[in-house]
Amino acid sequence: MKPTAETPALDLNRAIVLRPVTSNDESIRHGEARLLEAVGLAQALGLDVASADAGVLRQISPRSYFGAGRVERLKDQAETLGAGVVVVDAALSPVQQRNLEQDTGAKVIDRTGLILEIFGLRARTKEGRLQVELARQHYERSRLVRTWTHLERQRGGLGKTGGPGETQIELDRRIIADRIVRLKRELEDVRRTRRLQRRARARAGLPAVVLVGYTNAGKSTLFNRLTQAGVLAKDMLFATLDPTARQVKLPSGRAVIMSDTVGFISDLPHELVEAFRATLEAVSEADLLLHVRDIAHAESEQQRGDVLKVLAQLAADAGEKSPPVLEVWNKIDQLDDATRSARLRRAEALEAGAGALHPVAVSAATGEGIDVLLARIDAAAFSATRTVTLHLAPDQGKLRARIAAAGRILEETSDDEGRITLKAELLVEDVARFAPPESTPEAPPRAAE
Ligand code: GTP
Repeated sequence: MKPTAETPALDLNRAIVLRPVTSNDESIRHGEARLLEAVGLAQALGLDVASADAGVLRQISPRSYFGAGRVERLKDQAETLGAGVVVVDAALSPVQQRNLEQDTGAKVIDRTGLILEIFGLRARTKEGRLQVELARQHYERSRLVRTWTHLERQRGGLGKTGGPGETQIELDRRIIADRIVRLKRELEDVRRTRRLQRRARARAGLPAVVLVGYTNAGKSTLFNRLTQAGVLAKDMLFATLDPTARQVKLPSGRAVIMSDTVGFISDLPHELVEAFRATLEAVSEADLLLHVRDIAHAESEQQRGDVLKVLAQLAADAGEKSPPVLEVWNKIDQLDDATRSARLRRAEALEAGAGALHPVAVSAATGEGIDVLLARIDAAAFSATRTVTLHLAPDQGKLRARIAAAGRILEETSDDEGRITLKAELLVEDVARFAPPESTPEAPPRAAE
């Protein structure tokens, strides 16, 4: 490597993004789409992307992922462009990452590292942020262990233990292990507070509407448009754990609590699947989900499938049925006239099946369709139901009759003193009327709690 004095300063805000195409079944088009996604993610981190390339890679080098010639060219390219960061949209081993950094003089980020950064930036809730931090610590710990194993193997046969390198790594591992314990404890605290807040919200009778969707679908833009009115003081009750939660006034004069979530990303590295699901904790508490789709995207249908799969998994984990989903077909301003009319006709014609709602076509950018969307949210959120457990005193027979008339009683038990415990399905608004403070709204309950 050249001495530092001769090496031009590399800018840590400037990046080269590489999307190696390593599999024969990956079409060029898919590779290009993935490259665009990786560039978008790098830009979202504030990196200025100086070059992006989705090249075919015939053989993966165990030493530095790319072969020696490619690494040499990469080093030259980084120097010419002054790029201090190389983003490789693939899974690199710790050794490959370290060798690439040494050989190119740039900081190297792999796909898991990139997505961890994105999740860190976008986790909307306190619980989500803690989960991402936990995943980051696990990632770092695995890197330490793997690097260490590699070093051990290199030293093999010498029978020497307790060298200075090992001591340092042991120390690092302990620090990380301590952090993991602390983060887990904090997460427990946050979950406890969340349960209390959920009760407060349920008593206020406000349905929870949560935006989900693919990265770049326009969730944040739509969220800002729907919540334009700004933050209300009374939102603070809901904003402690979820800083994005806002009250949104609907055409009928009623209000909902709306919150945004981290965007979906295709082909999530498996070690991040858990962290990603955890950032979606608001989903299992939702009375209505708005699934925001970029309807102008070439892979819109595939993205829809990915999102629905994760939602089904979340519902299965919580042992509950998924909240009703209202699809929002966003970015219609980007469609040409013919496609646009066809999409609008399709949105109208789609039969609302069991639990499904008519999609609404909008442009979060121009505001088109937002009135219709608000009216649909109004209708859908207030026809959503919640399951609650209510405890009634022996003399509350009339209240029991009113609950039975308003909703559906799912289970009923009474104790020796005539106190009744009811599990009932009620409209969200009715929960507020019938659930006295000591009752436990389950909105819906998470299996883990
Ligand atoms: P993540 O935070 O990655 O999950 O993205 P997001 O879904 O929150 O998307 P965001 O709102 O950041 O929008 C992504 C890009 O799409 C931005 O450049 C927006 O300006 C643009 N965008 C959003 N809505 C529209 C729309 O209706 N029409 C057009 N033309 N662009 C839009």
